[in-house]
Amino acid sequence: MRITSTPARFPLATLPTPLVPAFRLQRAIGGPLVWVKRDDLTGFATAGNKARSLEFLLGDAVAQGCDSLVTGGGAGSNFCAAAAAASQVANLACHLIFYGSPPEESPAGVHPNLAAAGAAGARIHFTGRTDRAEIDRAVPALAASLAARGGRPYALPRGGATAVGALGYAAAFGELAEQLDQQEVEPGAIVLATGSGGTLAGLLVGQAATAATPEATTARAAAAPEATMASASARARARAGSPPWRIIGATVSRPPNQIRSTVDTLASQCSQLLGGHRASTNPCTVVDARAPGFGLASDGGERARAIALATEGLLLDPVYTAKAFAVVLGLVADGYDRPIVFWHTGGLPAALQQMADNHLAANHLAANHLAANYLAANYLAANYLAANYLAADGCTTDRSTLCPTPP
Ligand SMILES: Cc1ncc(COP(=O)(O)O)c(C=O)c1O
Repeated sequence: MRITSTPARFPLATLPTPLVPAFRLQRAIGGPLVWVKRDDLTGFATAGNKARSLEFLLGDAVAQGCDSLVTGGGAGSNFCAAAAAASQVANLACHLIFYGSPPEESPAGVHPNLAAAGAAGARIHFTGRTDRAEIDRAVPALAASLAARGGRPYALPRGGATAVGALGYAAAFGELAEQLDQQEVEPGAIVLATGSGGTLAGLLVGQAATAATPEATTARAAAAPEATMASASARARARAGSPPWRIIGATVSRPPNQIRSTVDTLASQCSQLLGGHRASTNPCTVVDARAPGFGLASDGGERARAIALATEGLLLDPVYTAKAFAVVLGLVADGYDRPIVFWHTGGLPAALQQMADNHLAANHLAANHLAANYLAANYLAANYLAANYLAADGCTTDRSTLCPTPP
């Protein structure tokens, strides 16, 4: 598989991101060593994994002479906030369409990603309806109306899930492969959170490219188009034909069958962009991590989040990364014995917001507890006063009846 064209790329991320062995986690839970690919540290705003896809999306938009980016999602969308910040640095306008209605005018009602998008100058629209799929109609409609007024919009679906966006992770696979080569680690599985599917699709393309052309991986060439055939690593050569690492997408948003087919289509289109003949040599493994619903924290995710923080100081968000990390912990608990790569895709704003919410809720409970105690104390004091009053009056009432156990 060879590159037939060089994709345009607008630099945003600080790469490579670290690949870190989680020794303390291993001591705490046993099992194989988990390596963490720190794409929470891609270094552009709090974009996480989306910094990589936006490099290619913006590159394409700028190459086409576009003057604005139009996309949408939920008000808490990491992609939308990142797209707003990226548009700003590229001198493009940014229109974001969010499903639902504007949040209450209170700090607690405003998701940090919505605030970040606004701070980056994005023009924000709400559909007024809770149906997420509404975005898929509203984005092209807004783009068409901007174009009708002479604009040159670049429209993107939710999550930036296009073949061009997937190039970011086709390149990232090569980056990981090199780091694993340096560490002489051959993982059994790579686990990541999957939403719109672009990240997973890109990794599958990168993996297929690495296996198909070990002399000069397409992925490495996409990462650094000047890479030559001679610069490929010996281990990449040796890996050709070996069983592929299992790439596991923990789907947090769409049903497994739906996301599998989306990922297959995206991988196929992305592969075509790179001049590939086949979409992917590997089947895509998808684990259903949606429960109890998109955007809602799960018990397993909460446990995973606490363990990741306590052992490795990792901040995981309840929507994506905590649920994916729970899949990693599940593999370990099931006796999986080969090294695992957990691809940390970011989500810092929601991680911090969840902590703030938990903190407020805990304080609220504590305040209620104090208030209940205060009421009980007042109740006892009132009864004591009443008893004293009666006693002073020479009344011989049994005091115990006046001071029952407070409710
Ligand atoms: C933190 C985080 N992780 C993972 C994903 C999933 O990436 P994708 O939409 O490419 O599947 C997202 C998507 O928004 C995300 O914000």
